[in-house]
Amino acid sequence: MTAQHTELQELPPDLKRELLPKHVAVICDGNGRWAKSRGLPRFIGHQRGVDALKNLLRCCDDWGIGALTAYAFSTENWGRPTEEVDFLMTLFQRVLRQELREMMEENVQIRFVGNLSALPGSLQEEISRSMEETRNNRGIKFTVATNYGARQEILQACRAIAHKVQQGLLEPDEIDEATFERHLYTEGICDPDLLIRTSGEMRVSNFLLWQIAYAEIYITEAFWPDFNRNEFHRALCAYQQRDRRFGKV
Ligand code: FPP
Repeated sequence: MTAQHTELQELPPDLKRELLPKHVAVICDGNGRWAKSRGLPRFIGHQRGVDALKNLLRCCDDWGIGALTAYAFSTENWGRPTEEVDFLMTLFQRVLRQELREMMEENVQIRFVGNLSALPGSLQEEISRSMEETRNNRGIKFTVATNYGARQEILQACRAIAHKVQQGLLEPDEIDEATFERHLYTEGICDPDLLIRTSGEMRVSNFLLWQIAYAEIYITEAFWPDFNRNEFHRALCAYQQRDRRFGKV
């Protein structure tokens, strides 16, 4: 996790510390197009995408942002060619194994959200190990959405709540936003203040639909592997110009 670490390590002076988002969510899009635009195979784009994500995690930590959530693999991504899906699963597993020691040193608390039971067994083991080992870390909360779909997340929360009602553990009238949030994968993580999507697409693609209710959305044309500290700086400057009213005047 060392590349680019010397660049813009301090919070840039034009950013106000008190107006930083507490939680940034990213839709890491454009790995394939980044590779194609250079005449490279798509898998190189994914490898560079991992580097970009590591750099962003380090940057959030350096600049005092307490939580980062990345969309690594959606429930729809299984529809990609088998070789690409296999490559991604192996890549995630390898990255986790390689980075665990450094995450411990840097006090990162990693969590995976999504339907993890459908992932390859060896990846599930690596995921459980990394979550278990970093559980008590008190640094940045890093959440990786893998085999994640927001509609599925909402449905599983509804099912869990319905079971509790059926068992007489909960009254229907007691179901409020806080109850609902306790049944989401993201329980205990504050909602994102800023959602960034790279490569110019104007969609939220089934990502954190409940949690982004009041998030500011920032879209950049940059492909994910090119999303560096300078790009993030631009996103934060734009975010700090926004007037967040949360439905009030
Ligand atoms: C989207 O680009 C990207 C992905 C499907 C994979 C994203 C994964 C990472 C950034 C790494 C996750 C890392 C950890 C820590 C496990 P695309 O393939 O959709 O690009 P395209 O739209 O140009 O084809």
